[in-house]
Amino acid sequence: MRTVLYLKAANQADAEAEFDALTHLPSEHGFTNVYAGMSREIFMTTGLAQLLNNPTGINLPNGYVPETDFFLWSDDHIVGLFKVRHYLTPALRHGAGHIGYAILPAFRGRGYANQGLALAIQEARQIIHEDEIYLSVHRNNPASLAVQLKNGAVIAGENGEEYFTRIKL
Ligand SMILES: CC(C)(COP(=O)(O)OP(=O)(O)OC[C@H]1O[C@@H](n2cnc3c(N)ncnc32)[C@H](O)[C@@H]1OP(=O)(O)O)[C@@H](O)C(=O)NCCC(=O)NCCS
Repeated sequence: MRTVLYLKAANQADAEAEFDALTHLPSEHGFTNVYAGMSREIFMTTGLAQLLNNPTGINLPNGYVPETDFFLWSDDHIVGLFKVRHYLTPALRHGAGHIGYAILPAFRGRGYANQGLALAIQEARQIIHEDEIYLSVHRNNPASLAVQLKNGAVIAGENGEEYFTRIKL
């Protein structure tokens, strides 16, 4: 049977599944997961509240903009995370950009990032009031570059470490 992939914004009702996914998602290739390694107790008492506050901008660390964290679900389990930042600061414009994402290691190589980014772009249309989505990718991350190009990205710049890409909204 074909699996159904969909995005769901972080929410209280899915706290257990969200905790389980976040603790299996390492920070790598510029994707950062502040919840990796967090104990269940800390997540349930403070981490989850922060996750739910991210879209509102409440209690964000200095320099952070509001962001909606969408989990990518395959049927009844989480397979990835797509973070949609609502607007750019100069640092984001010349760096990480609007969308950060990762697929849980156990579910990579199945096309989930390709499909998840397509879904995240649809969500971004409701959130981001710009003509283009900015993204970046480390030069040593060809899988992620492939995902972005497949979703219509063009390379708008580069430096020794990264490509800076854009997708028209
Ligand atoms: C990068 C990442 C999101 C890819 O997720 P994924 O679900 O495995 O990716 P998909 O299966 O959707 O597609 C990967 C694409 O990259 C291609 N690919 C995989 N490894 C590759 C490689 N070494 N060189 C070139 N292309 C590669 C695949 O063929 C596929 O392209 P296709 O659709 O044209 O066949 C995942 O590896 C990950 O979470 N990495 C850690 C965090 C990260 O890097 N986030 C992105 C930061 S910019």
